Amino acid sequence: METENKAQTEEEVEMPNRDLSEQIKEATKDSHVRAENTGLMLSYQKGQVTLAQYKLLLCSLHHIYVALEEELDKNSSHPGVAPIYFPTELARRELIEEDLEHFYGQDWREKMVVPKAAERYAHRLRQIGGENPELLVAHAYTRYLGDLSGGQVLGRITQKSLGLKNGDGVAFFTFPGVSSPNRFKQLYRSRMNSVELTEEQRKGVLEEAVQAFELNIQVFDALQDLVSSMQREADRQTHTSQAEQLNGTQ
Ligand code: HEM
Repeated sequence: METENKAQTEEEVEMPNRDLSEQIKEATKDSHVRAENTGLMLSYQKGQVTLAQYKLLLCSLHHIYVALEEELDKNSSHPGVAPIYFPTELARRELIEEDLEHFYGQDWREKMVVPKAAERYAHRLRQIGGENPELLVAHAYTRYLGDLSGGQVLGRITQKSLGLKNGDGVAFFTFPGVSSPNRFKQLYRSRMNSVELTEEQRKGVLEEAVQAFELNIQVFDALQDLVSSMQREADRQTHTSQAEQLNGTQ
C-alpha cells in the first residue's frame, strides 16, 4: 500500500496532469489565441462577417470535414479512435452541404472555391488516417470541440450579420444530436482521457493538435487573401465602368 502511494506521488510530481484533455488544452493555448486573432476571426468578433467570407469558409470546411469524417469512419474501430467516434452527434458534412446548397444552389459542387491551404489540411488528415490513426483525435478535438465552444457564438454572429432567417444557411453550427454542448464536451474529454497512448504517441498527439490549429490558421489567412483580391477585382471593375461612362464610351 505504502509503495503504491509513493509511486503515485512521484508520478504526480513528475507529471502534474496526465489527462489528455487537460494536456491538449494547455498545449494549444497559444495557438488558440493566434487563431482568434486571424483576420477572419477578428471580423467575427466585431460582428462583421460578410457573405463572401462565410461562403468561402463553408467551401473550405466542407473539404476539411469530408476528409476528417472519412478518415474517422475508416478507422472507427482503431483503439485510438473508437472512444472518440461520435458520428451521430458530431458529423458536419451533411449540414455543411445543406448550407452550400442554400448559398450556391444545387450545383454547389461546381461552384466551390477551395484554397490550397484547405487542400493541404485535407491531405494531412488523409495521411494520418492512413499511417497514424491515433493522431486523428488531435484534429477531431480541434474542430469539434471548437465548434461546440466558440463556434456556437460564431453561428449567432453569422445569422445576425447576414440577416439569415429560420436557420437557413447556418446548419453547420447546429448539433441536433447534442442536447447540452457543455455536457457533451465533458463526455468527449473523458473519452479522450480513456484512450491508451504510449508516451511517444501522447507527445505526437499534442504536437499534432498544435499543427491542427496551424492548419486552420493557414486556411483562415488564405480565405482573407481571397476575399481581399475578390474585393479589389470588384472595385477595379466598378472603376473601369465609371471611367467608361465618363468618357462616353458606353
Ligand atoms: C474553446 C472562443 C476560435 C478551437 C473555446 C471556448 C471559448 C472559445 C469561449 C471555451 C473555453 C472553455 O470552455 O474553457 C473562441 C472564439 C474564437 C475561437 C471567440 C474566435 C472568434 C477557435 C478556433 C478554433 C478553436 C478557430 C480551432 C480551429 C477551440 C477548442 C476549444 C475551444 C478546441 C476547446 C478547448 C478545451 O476545452 O479543451 N473557444 N474560439 N476556437 N476553442 Fe475556441
